[in-house]
Amino acid sequence: MSVPAQPAAPDSGSRPVKLAPSILSCDFARLGEELSAIAGADYAHVDVMDGAFVPNISFGLPILAAARRASPLFMDVHLMIERPERYLRDFAEAGADGITVHVEATQHIHRTLQSIRELGKRAGVTLNPGTPLEAVRPVLADVDLVLVMSVNPGFGGQKFLPASLERVRTLRRWLDELGSDAEIEVDGGVTPANARALADAGATVLVAGSAVFGSDGGAAGLERLRAALV
Ligand code: DX5
Ligand code: ZN
Repeated sequence: MSVPAQPAAPDSGSRPVKLAPSILSCDFARLGEELSAIAGADYAHVDVMDGAFVPNISFGLPILAAARRASPLFMDVHLMIERPERYLRDFAEAGADGITVHVEATQHIHRTLQSIRELGKRAGVTLNPGTPLEAVRPVLADVDLVLVMSVNPGFGGQKFLPASLERVRTLRRWLDELGSDAEIEVDGGVTPANARALADAGATVLVAGSAVFGSDGGAAGLERLRAALV
């Protein structure tokens, strides 16, 4: 007796989801150990803030270089800095594997993304929660990753903005229409409670800072997030 064919799995949620712990929430006095604890992650997310584009200063090139020396993880660098084009080569040489820039921070987003690729790095574009998604649409064919900020950038530990889910769905549709396999990454307030919904909406990379490093160590935090996606 033949088994009836199963309906095709829906597109959203069927992609494997990568996890990218943000080292912004780790103990920098123990950076090497913190990175070892998340060795099972897909990326290490590296948040660079300049006190101008965002109202906070985090860290810069020497910390990225130290993380690079301490870990073989893919270094996913999120530049929250004005005119990031000034520093692309420096971040590439310090160990970035991917560099994501804000569309609001540069006058020439297309050129900036091209420069990242010319350095041999994965090019990402991102935008603040208050910026219309249309701002990144013209460059979608030129990126390896689109980062949806689900909090206003500048600080870890903020509450997830629920409107971000619809933004992920729209971007997934636009990328599918283009035939692009660019990643959709979500950053800010990601927890085990919203991870599944984000994956179902079409996200393929989830950044989490406080949810991973917040309580009982990075390995346990990462495992909780992974378990929420099964
Ligand atoms: C926010 C940063 C985030 C931050 C996320 O400006 O871009 O990457 O570290 O932290 P959580 O996961 O705690 O919201
Ligand atoms: Zn970030």
